[in-house]
Amino acid sequence: MTERLTSDPEGIARAAAFLSAGRCVGFPTETVYGLGADATSDRAVAAIFEAKDRPRFNPLIVHLPDPGAVAALCDMPEAAERLAAAFWPGALTLVLPLRSGAGISPLVTAGLETLAVRVPDHAVARELLRAVGRPVAAPSANPSGRLSPTTAAHVLAGLDGRIAAVLDGGPCGVGVESTIVGFDPGPVLLRPGGLPREALEACLGGTLGEVMPGRRPVAPGQLVSHYAPRGALRMEATVAREGEVLVGFGAVAGAVSLSAAGDLVEAAAALFPVLHRLDAAGVERIAVAPIPETGLGLAINDRLRRAAAPRG
Ligand code: TXA
Ligand code: MG
Repeated sequence: MTERLTSDPEGIARAAAFLSAGRCVGFPTETVYGLGADATSDRAVAAIFEAKDRPRFNPLIVHLPDPGAVAALCDMPEAAERLAAAFWPGALTLVLPLRSGAGISPLVTAGLETLAVRVPDHAVARELLRAVGRPVAAPSANPSGRLSPTTAAHVLAGLDGRIAAVLDGGPCGVGVESTIVGFDPGPVLLRPGGLPREALEACLGGTLGEVMPGRRPVAPGQLVSHYAPRGALRMEATVAREGEVLVGFGAVAGAVSLSAAGDLVEAAAALFPVLHRLDAAGVERIAVAPIPETGLGLAINDRLRRAAAPRG
């Protein structure tokens, strides 16, 4: 049985006690719900991979309550310092050189010499992380390859009985995962996400590099089929074909809309909840209206492309 905890001081204390004891707990962040475990414990981290049925070569993001806690674990290139100062806490993950003796389980990094770190902008998450007092590794709290969860109910729909508890902090405000930036040695975009690329480039005063395919180990959902609903998904649709449910955006109305106003922030927050609802209703063919490739549209289109990709 998975306990459903309310995000009051007792619930947070109980969630922290589970994490300290090496158990896995779902918890809210501003992007999506994470499935946390003690990042210093091999056994605890192994339990995350087990619960999600996640391939072991796919490394995890470590969550910290405050930017100051990062220095103990990683070196910070100058550009990373600048991004951290501007955007943490927030929907930004930095992939940084791991310090030797940081005490992070090698299962977290899948043996890489870098560590992905993030300071979430969510009061419940930060209280929980402070209470645990150790770095917490957390992928999104969904079975591997499936839709990411943006409510405690989504977490339970995928992982009930496989994890100790879920801490209910209500729906996630941003709705898509963090933007991931690595350093090569200059900053490169590894995954578009909840922090728009334009904001990062304005902060850095230049364009972000791109990942060269094949040059680095499998990173962010670079497993092609990912974030997938049960039904088949078609993009760039303006009308529903036979048997399809059309998800609209802006002028394309659809049976349900990500944002009738054509607002990408609203659409990002609606993306996973709408797909979860269609999944739960047993919809077999989903069509989605064109989404502009700017701002949060980059992250939305990235998730849709992976949801539309042939299943492996
Ligand atoms: O918003 C988010 O980022 C959410 C919340 C819970 O924080 N977490 C999340 O985790 O999306 P996950 O595991 O679903 O995606 C993390 C991605 C993985 O696809 C992994 O490949 C990449 O981060 N990653 C982790 N460590 C890495 C590293 N050292 N180098 C390159 N990529 C890394
Ligand atoms: Mg994920």
